[in-house]
Amino acid sequence: MIICIIGTGYVGLVTGVCLAEIGNNVICVDKIEEKIEKLVKGKSPIYEPVLSEFLQANIKNGRLKFTTDISNAIKESEIIYICVGTPSLPDGGVDLKYVEEAAYEIGRHINSGKIIVNKSTVPIGSGDWISMVISDSLKENNSAMNVSFDVVSNPEFLREGSAINDTFFPDRIVIGSSSKKAIDKMLELYKPIINQSFKWPDDKKRLIPKGRKIPVVISDLTSAEMIKYAANSFLATKISFINEISNICEKVGADISIISEGIGLDKRIGTMFLNAGIGWGGSCFPKDLRALSYIAGEYGITTQILNSVININREQRQKVVKKIQDELKIVKSKTISVLGISFKPNTNDVREAPSINIMNNLITLGAKIKAYDPIVKVKPGTLNEKVSICDNAYDAITDTDLLIIATEWEEFLKLDFNKIKEIMTRPIIIDGRNFLDRDYLEKKGFKYIGIGR
Ligand code: UDX
Repeated sequence: MIICIIGTGYVGLVTGVCLAEIGNNVICVDKIEEKIEKLVKGKSPIYEPVLSEFLQANIKNGRLKFTTDISNAIKESEIIYICVGTPSLPDGGVDLKYVEEAAYEIGRHINSGKIIVNKSTVPIGSGDWISMVISDSLKENNSAMNVSFDVVSNPEFLREGSAINDTFFPDRIVIGSSSKKAIDKMLELYKPIINQSFKWPDDKKRLIPKGRKIPVVISDLTSAEMIKYAANSFLATKISFINEISNICEKVGADISIISEGIGLDKRIGTMFLNAGIGWGGSCFPKDLRALSYIAGEYGITTQILNSVININREQRQKVVKKIQDELKIVKSKTISVLGISFKPNTNDVREAPSINIMNNLITLGAKIKAYDPIVKVKPGTLNEKVSICDNAYDAITDTDLLIIATEWEEFLKLDFNKIKEIMTRPIIIDGRNFLDRDYLEKKGFKYIGIGR
């Protein structure tokens, strides 16, 4: 099939590359010229494991193209994906200006029956609104054209850091539309993934055995849009729940990692997303929970659970600062080391990262901060300029009064803790991700402080 992808951020680029990999001709469109220039040369603007290999392979085989020419891309395609950003508004609502722009352009250039697939995370009911914007634009700019189109909601569930695997080996695919014709076309498009029949570089490394069927949820537009918000909200709820339990553990002297295992083995609960720590961040959970709470508010519903999930998450970061005050008493003029800036490992994304709140609060209390991250080398704009970013972990740790693990990067497990004991002023470690080996560190004479253990 010929596919047009509007927007080459995380969702658009990963979706485009994967659809090309399973045999479609894909044209990715973006209005940012430098980005397209880079992409045409096979350079990915985002840090995402294994993405570059698939990107370059599909540019080479001619199935993947990049352009700023939205008109031709729309005209040549059978299916048009909207994969643009939907940033948060100050009141928690969702800014749909980029979606509106894309829909308007589609209306302007549409030249035959098309399927419009919305993959951006949008407020409930946006699918119908997109239809309306396209129709209005058609009337306004393209009245000669008597074309029909169908809108589909196809929410993505990919995680940063494992986006390619999440797209090729999904837990499920959700397709929402009122058009049976459009649903059938989408089922045909996703067939290689639904049947797990696509070629994989190393079959032994497939996350799902070849031929095992992927569940598909077929629904109306609105329910599909709701699945996206509900899924992210539930995952964030699991994390805030285990963080709340971890706070109780600290008082009663229980070990949260044992509790996570003990409850997680119950299939009704599941072990995933029960890692207590300094809280969730990123480009999705914070934005989506605010949006769902806002949408509910429009119907007079107060989302009591979601509000608590958001509050617990905010307090969890503050808790780390309190632990440091309890430990160091006077924080002013102390030097604190922070390992990990990105909101989670295997990404350079720092959006709403817990590390940033913690560092900014400590700076406000008069501490000096030395931070290190394996791939975040440029100081994020949201981070207080007083924070110094170091080239390596040991520089960030030298002559510090306390060390915080804020992101559970694999490489931190391989650090030389004998050396760290020597170069720190005080051997105190706050493990914000319960990532390090407590017994090993205590035997080495470190004071180890975990989250809920
Ligand atoms: C999330 C959803 O997982 C994904 O399905 C959706 O499409 C986009 O949003 P992502 O934002 O990439 O993906 O991050 P995720 O891996 O879900 O982690 C979110 C946050 O939760 C991170 O800050 C992570 O550190 C934190 N987390 C995750 C925990 O604190 N504990 C856990 O057990 C799991």
